[in-house]
Amino acid sequence: MTAETRKPILEAKGLVKTFGRVVGLDVSDLALYPGEVLAVVGDNGAGKSTLIKCLSGAEVADEGEIELDGEIVSFKRPQDSRAVGIETVYQTLAVAPALDIASNLYLGRELRRSGLLGSVFRMLDNKTMKQHAKEQIAALGIGTIQNIGQAVETLSGGQRQAVAVARAAAFGSKVMILDEPTAALGVRESNQVLKLIVKLRERGMPVILISHNMPQVFEVADRIHIQRLGKRAAVVTPLTHTMVEVVGIMTGALKIDESGQTLHSVR
Ligand SMILES: Nc1ncnc2c1ncn2[C@@H]1O[C@H](COP(=O)(O)OP(=O)(O)OP(=O)(O)O)[C@@H](O)[C@H]1O
Ligand SMILES: [Mg+2]
Repeated sequence: MTAETRKPILEAKGLVKTFGRVVGLDVSDLALYPGEVLAVVGDNGAGKSTLIKCLSGAEVADEGEIELDGEIVSFKRPQDSRAVGIETVYQTLAVAPALDIASNLYLGRELRRSGLLGSVFRMLDNKTMKQHAKEQIAALGIGTIQNIGQAVETLSGGQRQAVAVARAAAFGSKVMILDEPTAALGVRESNQVLKLIVKLRERGMPVILISHNMPQVFEVADRIHIQRLGKRAAVVTPLTHTMVEVVGIMTGALKIDESGQTLHSVR
């Protein structure tokens, strides 16, 4: 099926978000299709993070609509989007450093012991959580983590991101949103996170990946959403367009015509 005949799993239509006099989003659209990695690229201040925050409920758009599986949704807080299966991983907010990996995976959704111990005394089912965490980490092929009881603050940056992604993958989410997951990471760690993204796609989970790193974008993305001046300027693919063209559209040096195919230089 082509992108045109498929229906988006997540769609934003005409989002407007202003911060006082600053325009974050100026009637912006976005469409994420099942099973794809959609990269979102754009210059600093183009509105990428604002777009994603509106999709995750961290910000509330002034205007516009968001649809999940064809149904209009309204998110007032990040918990609202998470409750319907949209997981967002932020570079900084990803994990609680002092807690171990299992606790991080279950943060906010801890399993309780069965019976009165759980319901009345609120006792945690640490054994099951640890077991599930181990399985989840193994299933995602995060081989470099040796000890599930290790505090997250002692992990490498890449391993931390991996835990954050595993956390999102662990709860049968519908959509994963990653805002600059590799920005602070080295080559090896970045590759680890990219591998995870590919793995998620293999499991059928669609991913929105915000990134400034063009080689990474071209490596993993099925489609590339180019954000410019608060709007979606174009959507291209790594097969039809080059990095130079994408950067050109990002900066306004190149424009895409109505059919979405030909590029014209802007004089
Ligand atoms: N809370 C806020 N208050 C005021 N202005 C904001 C706020 N959040 C975003 N903006 C403004 O909205 C615009 C879009 O910002 P946004 O963070 O979405 O850009 P971005 O594309 O993610 O940029 P970067 O690549 O630097 O992360 C910018 O001009 C920014 O200054
Ligand atoms: Mg940003």
